[in-house]
Amino acid sequence: MSEPARDLYRSNYKTISQYVDLLVGPGVERGLIGPREVPRVWDRHILNSAALQGLVPSGSRVVDVGSGAGLPGIPLAILRPDLEVTLLEPLLRRFTFLMEAVEALHLSSVRVVRGRAQDHRERYDVVTARALAPLDRLLGWCNPLRSPGGVILALKGQSASEEVGAAGPVLARWKLKAEILSVRVHPDSDIATVIRVGSV
Ligand SMILES: C[S@@+](CC[C@H](N)C(=O)[O-])C[C@H]1O[C@@H](n2cnc3c(N)ncnc32)[C@H](O)[C@@H]1O
Repeated sequence: MSEPARDLYRSNYKTISQYVDLLVGPGVERGLIGPREVPRVWDRHILNSAALQGLVPSGSRVVDVGSGAGLPGIPLAILRPDLEVTLLEPLLRRFTFLMEAVEALHLSSVRVVRGRAQDHRERYDVVTARALAPLDRLLGWCNPLRSPGGVILALKGQSASEEVGAAGPVLARWKLKAEILSVRVHPDSDIATVIRVGSV
């Protein structure tokens, strides 16, 4: 149980708890998350993912690239039923888990697509990514999925400013600007670091 998540998710707390049960049960059994993550799944995974909620405009089409076990896409979709969320994941084992989770949680605003970012041909208002790749490579995969005026939101750790520096040439080539944001989604949650990238 997580008090910050209870405050945040309110009437959707049951659904996010069911998702946590899937992560710490089948998710661990099938090697989607490590057993050491179990005690910190709320803080490190759910609340970290939920930190994106205030950065996504109402009614956006969102793609979560390299969604893995559904992070950040599923916690975001449960918190924000106004969004249309696509979970994009190439690996069959993870894709199967995502299909099962979306069905079990009755997430009608979420679809799951099996594939790599570089082979996907749709455009979205918001492209999310967490633990996908260093920013320069991530931009190569995610920028073509961004509609004109859309944004990329990359959840990062302490390497954020170093990654923005290293991505300088890519940002300049595509006329993009990157901002590093520190977001606390609840007074009792950790700060999440987000790199927001959009057109200059
Ligand atoms: C380290 S995992 C992170 C999963 C999840 N986003 C999270 O934060 O727990 C990276 C994921 O990206 C996926 N991936 C790797 N290359 C990709 C690509 N080119 N396009 C889309 N997804 C990719 C992998 O299959 C894997 O599920």
